[in-house]
Amino acid sequence: MKKDLLKMADLSREEIESILDLASQLKFEQKNGIEHKHLAGKTLGMIFQKSSTRTRVSFETGIYQLGGQGLFLSSRDLQIGRGEPVEDTARVLSRYLDGIMIRTFEQEEVETLAKYSTIPIINGLTDYSHPCQILADLLTIREFKGKLEGLRACYIGDGNNMANSYIVGMLTAGMSIAVACPENYRPDPAVLEFAKAYGNKFFLTDSPIEAAKGADVIMTDVWASMGQEGEAEIRRKAFVGYQVNDELMSYAKPDAMVQHCLPAHRGEEITAEVLEAHANEIFEEAENRLHVQKAVMVKLMS
Ligand code: CP
Ligand code: NVA
Repeated sequence: MKKDLLKMADLSREEIESILDLASQLKFEQKNGIEHKHLAGKTLGMIFQKSSTRTRVSFETGIYQLGGQGLFLSSRDLQIGRGEPVEDTARVLSRYLDGIMIRTFEQEEVETLAKYSTIPIINGLTDYSHPCQILADLLTIREFKGKLEGLRACYIGDGNNMANSYIVGMLTAGMSIAVACPENYRPDPAVLEFAKAYGNKFFLTDSPIEAAKGADVIMTDVWASMGQEGEAEIRRKAFVGYQVNDELMSYAKPDAMVQHCLPAHRGEEITAEVLEAHANEIFEEAENRLHVQKAVMVKLMS
């Protein structure tokens, strides 16, 4: 049966570890000029209903490095943008392609696409989830810290797609996670329900300082996500105090890492000083999108 990657909860701990191991191997092979064309002759369709720099370029480059080709499909050009049902799009594209990466708004659209497709579907970001990004973060943390098990993560800011995916991904991978959000901007209820089973490995607060205490890695994301541009001003006020700055970093472990999926809004969720001090980790995280997505494509499409 075909497999999809629709959200972080689709992956077990063993599957996450196996993806990260393959990603490390593919990264080594890429850097050492060792051929790894596991998807020769395969085509990945990439549907975008929102903007992207990293996701588009890393998927397109990744499938090419694996010997296949990527097809950029903007919803502005597809009939889906004129109202053709996802159910029909799924059944048509399944007859041409070997896999689909989709970035859109509603998680339900991705789930429907997967239900009606006979080829693997990969979520390249919805309002609910961003699994490829969390896999890249986990690989980066494992590279810098040498392990995941037992590490303490901290997320500051909006309870958005990144927060949802961090909570599920990090708990599944054996880490603990503290999340600080304003009361009206909490993670999705289904994610909070998932976290309940992990007891005190999950901690939700409205105090960024409480969340940051003793953290091995601090993560944050924009206050207004794609599609929320109209709320940017209200959100700027609601998130005052939820900034990753030098003072907040002083509560984390002295060797704490910082992760940001990017794009970053300097002066809002993170200061320019913290971002530049941790640029090495943050841009490695961006690079690791390429390697983990190649691993995901190999696992699902070969
Ligand atoms: N982090 C991330 O998904 O970046 P893009 O929006 O540029 O793809
Ligand atoms: N939360 C952000 C992540 C961007 C990669 C958004 O959805 O816009």
